[in-house]
Amino acid sequence: MSELVLSDITVERGGRPVVKDVSITVPSGEVTALLGPNGAGKSSLVLAVGGVLRPRPGSVKLAGTELAGKRPERIRAAGVAIVPEGRRLLPDLSVDDNIRVATYALPKQAAAEGRTRALELFPRLAERLTVPARSLSGGEQQMVVLAQALVSQPKFILIDELSLGLAPVIVNRLIPVIRSVTESGIGVLLIEQFATVALSLATRAHVMEGGVIRYSGTAAELREHPSLLHSAYLLRGATDEAAAAETLEAGFAESDAVVAEAAASSVAGETGAPAGEGGEP
Ligand SMILES: Nc1ncnc2c1ncn2[C@@H]1O[C@H](COP(=O)(O)OP(=O)(O)O)[C@@H](O)[C@H]1O
Ligand SMILES: [Mg+2]
Repeated sequence: MSELVLSDITVERGGRPVVKDVSITVPSGEVTALLGPNGAGKSSLVLAVGGVLRPRPGSVKLAGTELAGKRPERIRAAGVAIVPEGRRLLPDLSVDDNIRVATYALPKQAAAEGRTRALELFPRLAERLTVPARSLSGGEQQMVVLAQALVSQPKFILIDELSLGLAPVIVNRLIPVIRSVTESGIGVLLIEQFATVALSLATRAHVMEGGVIRYSGTAAELREHPSLLHSAYLLRGATDEAAAAETLEAGFAESDAVVAEAAASSVAGETGAPAGEGGEP
């Protein structure tokens, strides 16, 4: 079993460090959660691992090979794919063309295999190949950006804010896909601002705040003791803390329901009537 090892990563933006000395190991075949409030530095870390920002200093090692500071294409070719925040697609291109664009650097056969595999994971996209990306719902856009990352058949995938802005019923459809991705041996680093879904899927979890890792441990421990999240999420005083603890616990209950429902129904069904998300056809 291999690992993606991030060690002592510091990232500067606008002349100040926004990620400070962060170390995280992502094992293959499981989900590792990276949680933290807005501004914690999660996205900056993802961009540094993907080669978009340069870690100074820092190490990103896969099977003994140093990837830090390499170009994004090189990092991707080594087997590390990132799904950046924000679901940016080429709006005028079809779903299929958006997926094909992501295969441009791959040998022809690998591109075809990767595309087939990605569409197996997302039968919904296979039905909507000719639709322009601009007409997709938020959930479908998230499927396309995941497919774009998966076409290169990576060993590790870093997903920045999987569930942000998506209704629970849509997140519900993505959960079994993340499961089957890890079952195929891929190591997933799942970044979320909200803890609930990530902790339901993850084995290990890290909490980041102010550019540093505040907690590392098992996801089960964080689920059982949400107060461990407090230091990172709540720095505003006792009253807020109590309120936020309640919100968090309510969130866990809701996410348990979502995960249980997802486990019970197959992703292939995809028949659930979308709720609460404008634009889902
Ligand atoms: N392009 C940028 N230039 C300068 N500072 C930035 C830029 N993008 C983000 N930051 C700053 O970096 C810090 C970390 O942001 P980010 O990595 O986006 O955190 P998160 O993903 O956890 O919300 C924040 O203080 C943010 O204001
Ligand atoms: Mg972010």
